[in-house]
Amino acid sequence: MHGVGGLGWRSGPLRPECRHHPHLDKRAARGIRSVTIDEDASMTQDIAFIAGATGYTGREVARQLAAAGVRTVAHVRPDSTRLQHWTTLFAEQGVEVDSTPWQVEAMGKTLAALQPTLVFALLGTTRARARALERAGGDASAASYEAVDHDLTVLLLEAAEACGNRPRFAYLSSIGAGPNASSSYLKVRARVEERVSASNLPWTNCRPALISGADRDDERTGERIGATLVDAALGLVGALGGAALRRRWASHGNVDLAAGLIRCARDPAWRGRVAEAKDLREPDVGA
Ligand SMILES: NC(=O)c1ccc[n+]([C@@H]2O[C@H](COP(=O)([O-])OP(=O)(O)OC[C@H]3O[C@@H](n4cnc5c(N)ncnc54)[C@H](OP(=O)(O)O)[C@@H]3O)[C@@H](O)[C@H]2O)c1
Repeated sequence: MHGVGGLGWRSGPLRPECRHHPHLDKRAARGIRSVTIDEDASMTQDIAFIAGATGYTGREVARQLAAAGVRTVAHVRPDSTRLQHWTTLFAEQGVEVDSTPWQVEAMGKTLAALQPTLVFALLGTTRARARALERAGGDASAASYEAVDHDLTVLLLEAAEACGNRPRFAYLSSIGAGPNASSSYLKVRARVEERVSASNLPWTNCRPALISGADRDDERTGERIGATLVDAALGLVGALGGAALRRRWASHGNVDLAAGLIRCARDPAWRGRVAEAKDLREPDVGA
């Protein structure tokens, strides 16, 4: 049993700040508890499905959505070695866990049962992941940009297209993505963006700058050093009046980035548009 339509939803503790609203009623009837409500009452009407929810960005998007009273479903791949860890952690946050296999029919059924209003595609691999898979005796191509960043994201999109609810599809791409990009990573991102924007769904393609933080699971030492140096230089530039440069290039922490993704994914003004790094920041950050 992997989740939607079955008995796989996990529950967390009921918090005292929970207030009455339609999702709470439905969830209470099924024995599901733990939702907090923020000031934006319309958020409680949303139902969010997050692929890549275990990632540095995804986990924070899940946490923030649930804390705002959104019914939030975090997808964790069924073969995850940390399935129990994520199930426990998400339950504590009022986030439901689904572990549908990455197969189009199965994912289609899950989304058709859930009827999400928001689908977040936040997954992606790295060359380090592919190398680690190979070292462990696996097939590195299964962890390639093509197999994960492209194929799984498109699979999710197709499932969302077929689910009947026309959810907003928010795709976490990258700064620099474009057909003429130099790296294979960015070229794949551009192809996914193109497929997303050709969809019959409302969509938002989001292009953050470097996503960095001391609390990442993976060290990414090079990225951390790069982000620190770039941010320091941009801080100087910002102090000299180059705030626009800083807003475009400075690294994101996952808390601010998650807030920006959620804002853009819910805002009708960002429907059918590309949100660049500067658009994903709070208006006053880096100004
Ligand atoms: N890091 C950056 O500086 C940066 C900058 C711009 C854009 N981006 C893009 O933004 C997205 C999120 O970045 P992030 O740093 O938050 O990512 P992250 O922490 O590396 O998380 C990646 C997510 O993708 C999932 N994933 C990876 N390989 C998978 C596979 N073979 N099958 C199923 N799921 C798989 C992971 O699941 P498991 O936990 O189960 O492995 C995890 O949930 C990525 O697409 C990334 O390319 C990143």
